[in-house]
Amino acid sequence: MSDNIESHLSENRIFKPSKEFSKNARIKSMAQYKRMHKESIEKPGVFWGREAKELTWQKKWTKALDWKAPYAKWFVGGKLNVCENCVDRHLTNGRANKAAIIWEGEPGESRTLTYRQLHREVCQFANVLLAQGIKPKDRVLIYMPMVPEAVIAMLACARIGAVHSVVFGGFSAESIVDRLSDCKAKAVITADGGYRRGGVVPLKANVDEALKKYKAVDTVIVHQRIGDKIPMKRGRDVYWHDEAARVPAKHVAKAFDSEHPLFILYTSGSTGKPKGILHTSGGYLTGTYSTCKYIFDMQDDDVYWCTADVGWVTGHSYITYGPLANGVTQVMYEGAPNHPDFGRFWDIVEKYGVTIFYTAPTAIRAFIKAGDQFPDSRDLSSLRLLGTVGEPINPEAWMWYHEKIGGGRCPIVDTWWQTETGAIMISPLPGCTPTKPGTATLPFFGVDAAILDETGEECAPNEGGKLVIRKPWPSMLRSIYGDKKRYRDTYWNDYKGMYTAGDGARTDRQGNFWIVGRLDDVLNVSGHRLGTAEVESALVEHKTVAESAVVGRPHEIKGQGVVAFVTVKGNVKTSEALAKELRNHVGKVIGAIAKPDEIYFTPSLPKTRSGKIMRRLLKELVATGEVSGNITTLEDYSVIADLQKNLKK
Ligand code: WT7
Repeated sequence: MSDNIESHLSENRIFKPSKEFSKNARIKSMAQYKRMHKESIEKPGVFWGREAKELTWQKKWTKALDWKAPYAKWFVGGKLNVCENCVDRHLTNGRANKAAIIWEGEPGESRTLTYRQLHREVCQFANVLLAQGIKPKDRVLIYMPMVPEAVIAMLACARIGAVHSVVFGGFSAESIVDRLSDCKAKAVITADGGYRRGGVVPLKANVDEALKKYKAVDTVIVHQRIGDKIPMKRGRDVYWHDEAARVPAKHVAKAFDSEHPLFILYTSGSTGKPKGILHTSGGYLTGTYSTCKYIFDMQDDDVYWCTADVGWVTGHSYITYGPLANGVTQVMYEGAPNHPDFGRFWDIVEKYGVTIFYTAPTAIRAFIKAGDQFPDSRDLSSLRLLGTVGEPINPEAWMWYHEKIGGGRCPIVDTWWQTETGAIMISPLPGCTPTKPGTATLPFFGVDAAILDETGEECAPNEGGKLVIRKPWPSMLRSIYGDKKRYRDTYWNDYKGMYTAGDGARTDRQGNFWIVGRLDDVLNVSGHRLGTAEVESALVEHKTVAESAVVGRPHEIKGQGVVAFVTVKGNVKTSEALAKELRNHVGKVIGAIAKPDEIYFTPSLPKTRSGKIMRRLLKELVATGEVSGNITTLEDYSVIADLQKNLKK
């Protein structure tokens, strides 16, 4: 295999769940896991049919799966309303007065919505959308802070069959323009702002800027979070509360086809343009419901907290759809983990008695750096289960999480999945799987994962290769919105009929999957995918830049930092000030998450004779300060020699 899928980790510490945990868990033994996994692979229709039957269907499906690679239809002929399953269902199963969302704002206020209250809010907002003329399959862009209205907006769209596309509140106006024009959204739901690190994020102002460029939006619905006076464009902008006051709070959820589109979520790929990952209804809901039930082992008295933002897939699957379909009580927090200091998360855990906590390795590393005094001075004894997602977790961080946060008693589920997979694919089951720091362990039910070499042969244990999924699964993406060719080319071209994840991985002798990282030109910055090509194209957009190459470098907290090599145009003078301007420019075009940590100006970039930039060399250079790999295809070695000197300075 190619040289970038090596792995030298060998981890011998094994942690088994306690007897006590296993006794109360849904899956209690490895024998039970193996039996169910076998059935789920051999008879997917039987396995998934049983899972799906736990949900409410207005019309039952006739066939569990219709698979014509690479297009899957799950629960063919079935009709359901996703929102009804997340909300209405709990009004008649004893959970009506149970807290659905316990929300805490960054400034410190708190609000609780029971399932009954959530139902009322969602119905009312569904009526607002209908009154604004939103129809089934219309696209609605959501650009919101972490407030319950973000979830209400998503659910209301689902309720009336509209397709939401949530854009992370940290993304820029230009990112909104790209997404609006790709999905041709008709309406935008936003807020006057949100609190972050003591400041206000000007969400509506960004929407206004975006709508100067994309003009086909006729309605902007603004949730008033801050209360400041902001410009409202007459005939286009309306306040959420004004419109809600005009409509009834009753709405009967009508059924949609199991394959009705539910949402589009944009994610980075190796070319410049983000991909609109399309998810549909019945299969997606079944997948997120089932993974919450088995992997987070959600029980009726749990208080679950996922710290992700609704702008990422984790917020879709493990804040909005999966947890609510399970009728769990969840905590939602608006702000930053370090506001006013690094004790904030642990205050929240203590205050609400959080039992299941799901976060990202990058956050864990930031907590380690901040110091043990923060968790040590809080009572974290309510916790019973911990989870991570977003990138491989380094064993040190795993051990700290286990000891400091989990008090040595909580199983850790390291969950591997992607925007495309919709739901968790590889993860321990907390009541049975022996865990080792750094591995996501074993495939979930229905997931036929394997590691293949270039010829399509399965790799032996400890041999690196490409991670593939050999069979369709209910929550899989259905396409890239508006671009079937890109869908086929990106995911289904390496091996016939199999999904390639774009990750390098290996298994160990016990069959545990160790994810090594991305194989394409995609960075993983703080657990989020960022295409190097996106950052490059943002840089080249700047009037001073002729060419650029962007690579990742290992970063203590973010996992990967962004390093940009920039060649400026003819007469431009390079300076610290220009580097700063370029960083801000990238922030403006994409969002702060994409700002290069370092910028190196260079008169030329290392290229092959055919003119392709050799990012591999740059990557090695920033990681080690040297280039030792194969450079025979390099057009001009002096470029590398110069860069090497330049970097040492
Ligand atoms: C990529 C997907 C799924 C929600 C968050 C990111 C990496 C994700 C793990 C994990 C090792 C992981 C992979 C994957 N990744 N979880 N537990 N261990 N790597 O979603 O933005 O679609 O990114 O994140 O490289 O392909 P995403």
